Amino acid sequence: MSSVNKQVKIFDTTLRDGEQALPASLNKRDKLQIALMLEKLGVDIIEAGFPVSSPGDFESVRMIAKEVKNATVCGLSRALEKDIDACGQALNIADQFRIHTFIATSDIHVDTKLRKSQDEVVEMAVKAIKHARSYTDDVEFSCEDAGRTHIDYLCRMVEAAIAAGATTVNIPDTVGYTTPSEFGGIIHNLFNRVPNIDKAIISVHCHNDLGLAVANSLAAVEQGARQVECTVNGIGERAGNCSLEEIAMILQTRYAMLGLETNIQSQEISKASKLVSNLCNMPVQSNKAIVGANAFSHSSGIHQDGVLKGQNTYEIMTPESVGINKNNLNLTSRSGRHVIKHRLGELGYQADEYDLDAIYDAFLRLADKKGQVFDYDLEALLFFDQQKHDH
Ligand code: KIV
Ligand code: ZN
Repeated sequence: MSSVNKQVKIFDTTLRDGEQALPASLNKRDKLQIALMLEKLGVDIIEAGFPVSSPGDFESVRMIAKEVKNATVCGLSRALEKDIDACGQALNIADQFRIHTFIATSDIHVDTKLRKSQDEVVEMAVKAIKHARSYTDDVEFSCEDAGRTHIDYLCRMVEAAIAAGATTVNIPDTVGYTTPSEFGGIIHNLFNRVPNIDKAIISVHCHNDLGLAVANSLAAVEQGARQVECTVNGIGERAGNCSLEEIAMILQTRYAMLGLETNIQSQEISKASKLVSNLCNMPVQSNKAIVGANAFSHSSGIHQDGVLKGQNTYEIMTPESVGINKNNLNLTSRSGRHVIKHRLGELGYQADEYDLDAIYDAFLRLADKKGQVFDYDLEALLFFDQQKHDH
């Protein structure tokens, strides 16, 4: 890990990249509620929106900039004066704000979308960064589609952006095309080839088209990137963005021993996930890492027996560490005797009050028919067993 700085900044773009991918946009009140949750979650930078895109977005960014006190509030702008002016005007009410400006750098985008020469694109970027610096010292520049940009041109652009005053330079894998070794290699090359690279924080912004957004972000952190752009539940354009809860828990669970840290208050993760899912009308898949309904559920008898003997046998982090009260032991025909006895204990029945062999036998027959057995089913089995003995 090349960088001596061990603090990884978490830049959340749920309200910008996440929101732009929803079938219906969020209202101002919902956006503020999410922003305040992100502040509580310990996010360092909240990208609140794209102020030039609509009067409503301008107003929400301004309201968030006014209300949020413990995070930097950021707005997105193309490399155009009018976008940057809208950002500056929406954000200037904040205690700390950032203007994030971007332009595409890959041949595909430069030739097909921008229809400009590479020199013209560098000139536009430099002009935009300088203009943004007239509003704030905190300016981020993104090389859109960096993942498919020729490394020589990417190095040239990053060097020019830093020289023009960008304090954070973001390397997006806009279309989620790279693999972890390739993306890590891009960051490695930038650190080796751009002479003024230590004057800025290198950020990454990975999309999930091949399901690699989190892995690519992590590969970049290993090469010295110190800001990760992400969203709650991984929502975002197409297959989404790097998921905040996944990258934060990877860093906490596996990288803290290497000294890397974030400001994320992980016990707020579950609440943040539910809020975003509800307001955005985007259900979370049950087997989603960290926040899916099954993330701390155990179903097989062997696993249930294991976690009852020692939670870390099958859990690499505690449910409490992400704000979930306790794990869930699902009662099915895969469950063993140990979990039935344990669950009956939780329900207040002592082992000498029932015949475990008989209850377990009845439980298995019921589970085979019903699929899942609930607490009230278990209590009914107990009741029938006691009745049998009373007669
Ligand atoms: O995916 C992307 O390239 C973006 C930029 C605007 C940062 O969202
Ligand atoms: Zn994006």
